[in-house]
Amino acid sequence: MRNAAITGWGMAVPERVLTNADLERMVETSDDWITSRTGIKERRIVGPNDSTTSLSVAAAREALDKAGLTADDIDLIVVATCTPDQFLVSQACLVQAELGGNAGAFDLGAACSGFVYALAVGSQFVQTGLHDRVLVIGADTLTRFVDYTDRSTCILFGDGAGAVVLEATDAPRGLLSTVLGADGAGNKHLYIPGWGAFVPESAELFPEYRPYLQMNGQEVFRFAVRVMGDAAVEAVAKAGLTFDDVDMLIPHQANMRIIDAAARRLALPREKVWVNLDRYGNTSAASIPIAIYEAAEAGKLNEGDNVVLVAFGGGLAWAAGAVRWGVEGVCRDAACRQRPVVVSEPARALAGAVPAGTMPDG
Ligand code: UT7
Repeated sequence: MRNAAITGWGMAVPERVLTNADLERMVETSDDWITSRTGIKERRIVGPNDSTTSLSVAAAREALDKAGLTADDIDLIVVATCTPDQFLVSQACLVQAELGGNAGAFDLGAACSGFVYALAVGSQFVQTGLHDRVLVIGADTLTRFVDYTDRSTCILFGDGAGAVVLEATDAPRGLLSTVLGADGAGNKHLYIPGWGAFVPESAELFPEYRPYLQMNGQEVFRFAVRVMGDAAVEAVAKAGLTFDDVDMLIPHQANMRIIDAAARRLALPREKVWVNLDRYGNTSAASIPIAIYEAAEAGKLNEGDNVVLVAFGGGLAWAAGAVRWGVEGVCRDAACRQRPVVVSEPARALAGAVPAGTMPDG
């Protein structure tokens, strides 16, 4: 069976830091309240020179470097984001414009669960044999949509990007199991109003709309505690593992109380749970790949380790997977890395059959 090993990882966060002390000066809150209710101490906020593109590109370059590849070696770029810099074109095309190459490129929208969804999608392309190397990015700049007079949301979010490179291997590496779920009826509990509501023609239809993230914190909290545990347990079982086999849990970094609840369901001690939300807050689709990066760089992920990823967020959606860490079986020799770009037979046939500027029948 062909698998998709993670062979490179990168991350980027803006330089600007927003601490709990800063927030105390902006809204009626306290470091004590934020720390005890969420675990967050500070977060990174985009400045005038940052964007979802700039953070994604920085993370992607580092991931490619670590894998020993260039953008020309990549077949497909998938960017998970709910805060693209443009609605047209895709965030993935903006990233590719900076990186170079001609890889296929598209975005995937599943909010905070987006990276795990995108990892599942990218892995499928490798597992089916359609592609050999896929770049998966999770990036969000949600603070651009946060109302900094609303204390119930402005304390939570930060900005960032994380990226991984997937490469084909015949060894059991990469995503071993996938759990994807959504409860679309819960969309009203966490959302940013659509831009359709802000064009002049619709202003009268939607007078109450404001371009800020809206959240029912308690509802999302209850949902998160339930699905994070359930999805993590299911991912472990689907991979044919037991809780004892799990070397590291990398959960979506939203709230320490939610992370603790998920860890309890897997009976994992604190040292087997990667936590960085104290430094970055909730970075949405970037939170899991940033945590993967930090755990890998800290030497906590070793060849053959079993890592459980689990995320939840707007949708309401959730996603989990068991990943076997390591690069066993990945081709490292220059000859197999420098293969020419292959144009598929159907694409070649279509290009020959259709004169430029005309539409094929049917
Ligand atoms: O990726 C998914 C993103 N979303 C989430 O993960 C959100 C999940 N939910 C949560 O993390 C929690 O619900 C929050 C951290 C947002 C809120 O914590 P909570 O324990 O559920 O607080 P609460 O909403 O029940 O509010 C308790 C009290 C309220 O005051 P009263 O009505 O009891 O007087 C709030 O007005 O805390 C008040 N409050 C605050 N006080 C100080 C709410 N926000 C703040 C604040 N500082 N920043």
